Amino acid sequence: MLKGKHIILGITGSIAAYKSAVLCRLLVSAGAEVKVVMTPLAKQFITPLTMATVSQHPILVDFFNPENGEWNSHVKLGEWADLYLIAPATANTMAKMATGVADNLLLTTYLSARCPVAVAPAMDLDMYAHVATQRNIEQLRRDGVHIVEPGSGFLASGLVGKGRMAEPEHIVEAVSAILEEKKKSLEGKHFLVTAGATIEPIDPVRFISNHSSGKMGYAVAEALSERGAEVTLVSGRTSLATPKGVKRVDVLSAEDMWQECVARFPECDGAVMCAAVADYTPSVVAEQKLKKGDSDMTLELRRTKDIAATLGANKGKRVLVGFAMETEHEQQNAVGKLERKNFDFIVLNSLRTEGAGFRGDTNVVTLIDREHSQPLPLMSKHEVAEKIVDKIEEFL
Ligand code: PMT
Repeated sequence: MLKGKHIILGITGSIAAYKSAVLCRLLVSAGAEVKVVMTPLAKQFITPLTMATVSQHPILVDFFNPENGEWNSHVKLGEWADLYLIAPATANTMAKMATGVADNLLLTTYLSARCPVAVAPAMDLDMYAHVATQRNIEQLRRDGVHIVEPGSGFLASGLVGKGRMAEPEHIVEAVSAILEEKKKSLEGKHFLVTAGATIEPIDPVRFISNHSSGKMGYAVAEALSERGAEVTLVSGRTSLATPKGVKRVDVLSAEDMWQECVARFPECDGAVMCAAVADYTPSVVAEQKLKKGDSDMTLELRRTKDIAATLGANKGKRVLVGFAMETEHEQQNAVGKLERKNFDFIVLNSLRTEGAGFRGDTNVVTLIDREHSQPLPLMSKHEVAEKIVDKIEEFL
């Protein structure tokens, strides 16, 4: 469950911070990538060197690097994460989280995070039992923050009672459960996904097509299915295996894809149009192989039907996501397609960007809706798919 997950580990100023190193090591061993954010006081309890070593990333404490003025972007960090875990979380930090105070990097990251957030409180028993702390914890629960309950036992004060941070193994289990729960967040929903290239026959031997491998669309279908959605994948020709749990319908031409999508869309809660669909098809398909002559040949093409625009016109409350593959005026063209095809948001990728677009295992995309444009860094197509599905959930 933790393999490949991005986790921010926030550490606040508590004696329980000594357990954060073990916690970080367990998360990394389970396959997660961990970036650590510390409050200035946390550095008194566990050294940045220790945490940088176990997390294999530099530690983030300040808003910017005083040596060169480089910003530590809490927004980018919040976007990067699949889960934000604050362990240990002091009474002070939880009070600030509950009221939206943002006076250090750990707290601004909390306010920017779009992912699930979990806190593992750690403090003395009276502080924990205090009505103010309990009120703040209740507020955090209402705000959707997961609370990993502290245990009872010996406390740093010498007293015995409830307030000890949960053991690292227990916190890792809780984190896995949260990610598992997130994964099933689309249970009961049905999505249509198009992927791959269409094939427009010229004669029984030749055709017009494009470079789409289907990888991006298949990754989206897989990500939706992993979160519990029923997925119908209408696929152009590819050599890819069908993702587990996904129902695949193979098509060849843009017309075939149009037929399948239009028939299936009414039963769906949304659709992701990732296929590279031919905009033109030969007006006449020759019944026999065309013979070459001495002169040049002109092929007459006619427009295909626009699948996305048809679904967009009949969208109702469904979520409709488009893709735009551009080579120039990227943003402007993508916004035009967003409007014309009535997408809720569009995923822009450009052939001018290295690591983006056709065939490779990575992509560089910008998610554009009517209010925001969110550029994402180079990621695997699977990570891009996760980000797309996160955004779909915001629209549902
Ligand atoms: O398959 P890969 O090798 O992984 O590559 C992924 C990709 C580059 C194909 C993918 O990321 C992508 O950008 N897909 C859309 C490519 C495209 O042709 O976009 P477009 O700008 O022509 O079309 C805009 C939108 O309308 C797309 O959502 C497209 O699916 C849809 N469309 C277009 C024409 C048509 N007749 N019907 C449609 O539904």
